[in-house]
Amino acid sequence: MTKLRRGSGRGARAAAAVAVLTLVVTGVAAGSAQAAGSTLQAAAAESGRYFGTAIAAQRLNDSTYSTIANREFNMITAENEMKMDATEPSQNQFNYTNGDRILNWALQNGKQVRGHALAWHSQQPGWMQNMSGTALRNAMLNHVTQVATHYKGKIYAWDVVNEAFADGSSGARRDSNLQRTGNDWIEAAFRAARAADPGAKLCYNDYNTDDWTHAKTQAVYTMVRDFKARGVPIDCVGFQSHFNPQSPVPNNYQTTLSSFAALGVDVQITELDIEGSGSAQAENYRKVVQACLNVSRCTGITVWGVRDTDSWRASGTPLLFDGSGNKKAAYTTTLNTLNAGGTGTPTPTPTPTTTPTPTPTPTVTPTPTPTPTQNPGGACSAALTIANSWGGGYQATVTVTAGSAGLTGWRVTLPSGVSSNNVWNGVLSGGVVSNAPYNGTVAAGQSTTFGFIGNGNAPAAGALSCA
Ligand code: G3I
Repeated sequence: MTKLRRGSGRGARAAAAVAVLTLVVTGVAAGSAQAAGSTLQAAAAESGRYFGTAIAAQRLNDSTYSTIANREFNMITAENEMKMDATEPSQNQFNYTNGDRILNWALQNGKQVRGHALAWHSQQPGWMQNMSGTALRNAMLNHVTQVATHYKGKIYAWDVVNEAFADGSSGARRDSNLQRTGNDWIEAAFRAARAADPGAKLCYNDYNTDDWTHAKTQAVYTMVRDFKARGVPIDCVGFQSHFNPQSPVPNNYQTTLSSFAALGVDVQITELDIEGSGSAQAENYRKVVQACLNVSRCTGITVWGVRDTDSWRASGTPLLFDGSGNKKAAYTTTLNTLNAGGTGTPTPTPTPTTTPTPTPTPTVTPTPTPTPTQNPGGACSAALTIANSWGGGYQATVTVTAGSAGLTGWRVTLPSGVSSNNVWNGVLSGGVVSNAPYNGTVAAGQSTTFGFIGNGNAPAAGALSCA
């Protein structure tokens, strides 16, 4: 369903009515729509957030698994299939079979995708493990560029760099072959990712960064602050949040999330699992979910697997469904906490496109590049490209470019016949997409984008009416 915001009252209900009417008139059923609040994704969407899971490609044939995953989650991370060893098993020979399988399953079911991970000391292919120096730096940058280009236009956020800091009290970078290529390897990876896919949010992702007082947390914070100060393109920080009795949910978890958010980045809980059972485990899930709901720029939560038996830590029963697919106490508490809401009105940043040139680059499907034409009033122009299409649906990206006066709000009219139940970075009502609360202001000549999953056949790429 079109995302509605808690407490937005009559306007929201009117928008919902229009959205429902649109679907009825066009005869398209909303694929995974649920009654509000009855699933994790629906409950999270009430406050404009997503609720996601990691997916393993080989489990998608298990119908219990895929049914739960489709019903409950609207953000998908490939558990292993987009990592360096999976996507570039031999140098310069890329294999996207399993990554694409997960991506296509997600997009065909109206979900978004977090990409994981472009550069990491672990799960490197053998050929890379033995490299060093300039050759390794170039190989890493080539990998980032190639993989981000392959998935261009289809990824909500990339974990560009994963786990680059050491555990313990040093506050130092983790030693690795990548670190030994020079301290600037992380920012080089972010710049390469931005160049390859300007529409994806770019995240730094790590574990043991949940306690605000820990040296590792502070070290990552210092790096992100420095990146923001120097204009290194970073949009978000991922907190893996793998918890167990030795590493419990810290009482200052919300402080950690809000402190990073105050730097001007989104924060996301990216790999949540909490070992335990019963009410104690449920209470820990409540603490984590509530902390996110209380931080405006905490844009979503991903749990690291569907059922306990799917987990990398299966013996710790750390997830929301038991091995038979039954909802656990932790599930019910998580759902209720999402439905109750928090104090953080979500204000996620727009998808980071501020390219000064108004010509959008065509993505995977070789659609002709539309040249946006300025409206007579010069207020704005909009151009639609089709990122991906399949039988029965497609993913579209629309670039909105401000005219000489700049914008404080925009409205783009979609081609007639377009219907969607999944729009991001915009609000759909009656065939018109308006800016989200956070991306209405666009400086003269600058651009922002929104996207949507469309039902049926894709419209032609080209200029759209913008006001
Ligand atoms: O697919 C092979 C299989 O053919 C083989 O028989 C078997 C034998 O060991 O291994 C299988 O591969 C395993 C793979 O998971 C798929 O199940 C690897 O050994 C195993 O190392 C790998 O573990 C993954 C781990 O990352 C590797 O670091 C976990 O599934 C995955 O959940 C975990 O995810 C990481 C995040 O990426 C980063 N944060 C921490 C998180 C948990 O470790």
